[in-house]
Amino acid sequence: MDGNGRWAKKRFLPRTAGHRAGVGAVRKTVERCLAKGIKALTLFAFSSENWRRPPQEVSLLMELFVASLERETAKLHENGVRLRVIGDLSALAPLLRERIAAAEALTRTNNRLNLIIAANYGGRWDIVRAARRLAELVERGELSAAVIDATLFQSHLALADVPEPDLFIRTGGEQRISNFLLWQLAYTELYFTPVLWPDFDEQSLDQALEDYAGRQRRFGYTGEQVESLLLG
Ligand code: FPP
Repeated sequence: MDGNGRWAKKRFLPRTAGHRAGVGAVRKTVERCLAKGIKALTLFAFSSENWRRPPQEVSLLMELFVASLERETAKLHENGVRLRVIGDLSALAPLLRERIAAAEALTRTNNRLNLIIAANYGGRWDIVRAARRLAELVERGELSAAVIDATLFQSHLALADVPEPDLFIRTGGEQRISNFLLWQLAYTELYFTPVLWPDFDEQSLDQALEDYAGRQRRFGYTGEQVESLLLG
């Protein structure tokens, strides 16, 4: 969700106004995903590197998370949304952690849309954590190193039970992954748009989905093989 700061600057507003406007784009995107029957949406809200930002900006972002959880959780629940937060939550304020735990507990059994918020998250952090967990099991003699394969490794990552993403969208014109779901993006289609996050709306999402629909995903096969597989 990139471009909040630039959106605000263009309007001679403080960067924080861009983040506030960004919450509106989150709401529109979630509503559109529900309408379109999309089963999983992961939003990169705060990276492990974002702590480097000015302290006032970091605290405003944390306040926005708390306020959004307080304001939106009941509505998400009514709409069958399961909310989860991934990342190193130990660094977050106790109040925020409490709100997250409450929202996760309330929506646990919903399955219409998996809404995942990545907060203090980094793809490398996720991979290193999985490696450490496996190493601990080997160290305790509970696992043989020889049985570690991609499937077992994957089961120790934050999104173990969520299918790998079909589409990655980055707003704001930058063409980078920036330490998002590194492992999970191996076969994901990448889509970059210059639209700044606060301006991202239903039409922007539909455009990205249309672009995705026109692509051929081959997973290592030839184009001809994929066509014959699809035709049965
Ligand atoms: C990147 O834009 C955006 C962020 C670091 C924060 C994203 C947060 C929200 C949209 C707020 C609320 C989210 C939830 C889930 C309630 P930037 O500041 O890097 O923009 P710039 O590149 O234009 O400076």
